[in-house]
This record gives sequence, structure tokens and C-alpha cells, in this order.
Amino acid sequence: MNDERFVEVKNLKKVYDNGHEAIKDVSFSVKKGDLVCLLGPSGCGKTTILNMLAGLLNPTSGDILFDGKSVVNVAPKDRQIGYVFQNYALYPHMTVLQNVMFPLTVGKQKMPKDKAKEIAEKYMKTTQIMELADQKPGDLSGGQQQRVAIARALVQQPKILLMDEPLSNLDARLRLKIREEIRALVKKVGITTLFVTHDQEEASSIGDKIILFNNGVIQQDDLGQNFYLEPNNYFVANFVGNPVIDNFKVQVNNGKIVGSDFEINVDDLDKSRFKRDLTDGEYILSVRPENILLGDHGEVSAKVDDVELIGRERILKFTHDGVQARSLVDLETPIKPGDNINLKMRLNRIFLFTKEGERIY
Ligand SMILES: Nc1ncnc2c1ncn2[C@@H]1O[C@H](COP(=O)(O)OP(=O)(O)O)[C@@H](O)[C@H]1O
Ligand SMILES: [Mg+2]
Repeated sequence: MNDERFVEVKNLKKVYDNGHEAIKDVSFSVKKGDLVCLLGPSGCGKTTILNMLAGLLNPTSGDILFDGKSVVNVAPKDRQIGYVFQNYALYPHMTVLQNVMFPLTVGKQKMPKDKAKEIAEKYMKTTQIMELADQKPGDLSGGQQQRVAIARALVQQPKILLMDEPLSNLDARLRLKIREEIRALVKKVGITTLFVTHDQEEASSIGDKIILFNNGVIQQDDLGQNFYLEPNNYFVANFVGNPVIDNFKVQVNNGKIVGSDFEINVDDLDKSRFKRDLTDGEYILSVRPENILLGDHGEVSAKVDDVELIGRERILKFTHDGVQARSLVDLETPIKPGDNINLKMRLNRIFLFTKEGERIY
């Protein structure tokens, strides 16, 4: 039993035939029954990883283990994987029932039609598509097609479910609803799931943990809240968070952090948060907009360029040192564009990054 490392990826690399290094030495593991989100911008290598897990693509080097056994030389059909593709890939000429039954009616393990139908119907009930049984994919909405694709992936009772941006073709409201349903469904079935998305909010809402990639490299493999509160580096801090984090160029000199019109004593920072010694030089000071507070006398004064309402909060946009920055305040704060404000940072919530993006504080 390898429940803690039910899926294990070790030093995985993929160089495509044209020489492009899409995955560079990636290692991670997934606990049995967990739903893990692979998150990252378009082109970071998410689909490449799923395809290697599924066996549709050979790794250049490295190993993939399911339940402790290497599968790199195991044929895709023998890996006990269910795959929900980004475009669903349903068979247009078949009905919903025929689509869902299909994997059970082909190959070595094929079973009698009535048995296949019985299993298909079980999963169609779970995914609530029984009433669509006789329709063709072309007659279905995006959300319905998505359920058919999930039911078809589940009928073979795979050990691992792979889903590649399964919600990207749905409109915003439906996406919220279906992501909750997917989480409830995979937890009910108890299947270990790798769910690919480029949407940080989707990832934190449904993932037991998140693995964030950029350029084929893992940036952080962690619980959702840690990407926000304790980002590993500048990329993570900027990829996660809405509104996005504010970044200011600063100079560290003789125990002071000097910005364009503010100064912070290094002694006022929380010693325990330093990752290593802060040497003099140029840094980026980053702070989430809700940690820039309004005050009577702040460290920085600014003029509000614009105010944006998002649900229960307001984003105050201002220009500081030539860059756009944001402060997040509650809905009741009566501030309009053109107002002058004083701002103060919560010093125990700021981050300091080197120009290369390494986090120091
Ligand atoms: N067959 C291929 N040949 C060469 N490069 C590819 C191929 N498929 C994908 N890539 C490149 O590899 C990188 C990762 O692609 P992909 O895994 O599809 O990213 P994602 O799914 O995160 O958007 C991208 O830069 C993409 O252009
Ligand atoms: Mg992709």
C-alpha cells in the first residue's frame, strides 16, 4: 500500500521532438483519494504532464509510479486511468448512453451489452444525465456534455481520474456550480483525481492541495491558503490573488528599506519571517492590497485614479512610483476617484523578493 504516495512522479522531464523542454525535472506525489489541482498559466506544461501520466506521451526521463509500481512501460489502456479531455472528445454519432458504455464494449476486457448498460446507467445516475440517454452530444449544453465525459471516464472504474481544464468551455456561473459537483462526485466515488486548471480561484476552491507550475517547473506544492499567505517566490505571489499583489521597487541600505517616498526600518519587521539575511541592494517589496490600509497619517500619500467595486469590497487604484497599485477597502468606505488618501502597509504582511524572484522576507 502506498496511500501517501499513490501517484508519484520522480524527476520527470519532457523534451519534445523540436527540442522544446516542456517539463524540467518535476517531482510530486498525490495521496490516495485526494483531488489535486495542477495550476499554471497556459503553456506551462499541464497537459504534457497529464498525457505522460496517461501514457499518451513518453517521458524523456524520470519515472511515474502508481501505487508504488512504475507505469512508464505500461500501455495506456492498462494504466487504469480515466481521462476527461479539455474538449470532452465525445463521439458525435453516438447517443449519450452509447458514449458512456463505449469503453466497456471494446478491447480485451469487453463485456456483454446488458452488463455494460447496467454499469453505464449507474454512473449516469451519479452524474445526473439519465434523462439524456438517447440524445446526441450535439443536442447537449456544455455542462451536459461535460457530465457525459465524466461518466464515460468513470465507467471503467479507474484508479486515477485525470481532468484537463474540464470547466473552461462553460460560462462563469455554471463553472462555479459544476466545480462543486465535481468535487462532491469524486469524493463520493473516492477516486484519486488530478484536475488541471489555469484558474487560481477554481484550484483553491476544489483542490485538497495545489501544485503550481511555470515554464515546466514546480513553483509551489502546497495547501491552497499557503500560496496566498506564504508564497515561495515572486511568481507565486503574483500569480495568486485577486486583486493582484502590489509590487514596489525598493533599495535596502544600512538597515532601512527605502521606496520612492517611504522608508521602513528593518528592525520593525518580524525577525522570524526572514528566510535569510537581508543584504544591501535592490529588492521588490510586495504587499497584498488588503494589507495596504487607509489612515490619517500614512507612510505614503496618493491620489485615487479609479475605484472598482468587486462584490463586498472596493479596489482603490492609485499610481505609485510610476506603477499602478491597489488598496482593498470595504464597500462602505466613501472614496471617489480624485480623492487624496494616506496609506500604510501592514509590515508583518509584506514580502521582499530579490530581482530574481527569490523570497527573502
Ligand atoms: N507536440 C509538441 N511539440 C512541441 N512543443 C509542444 C508540443 N505540445 C506542447 N508543446 C509546448 O510545450 C509547452 C507545454 O504545453 P502544454 O503541456 O500543452 O501546456 P498547458 O497545458 O499548461 O497549456 C508549451 O510551450 C507548448 O507550446
Ligand atoms: Mg493544456
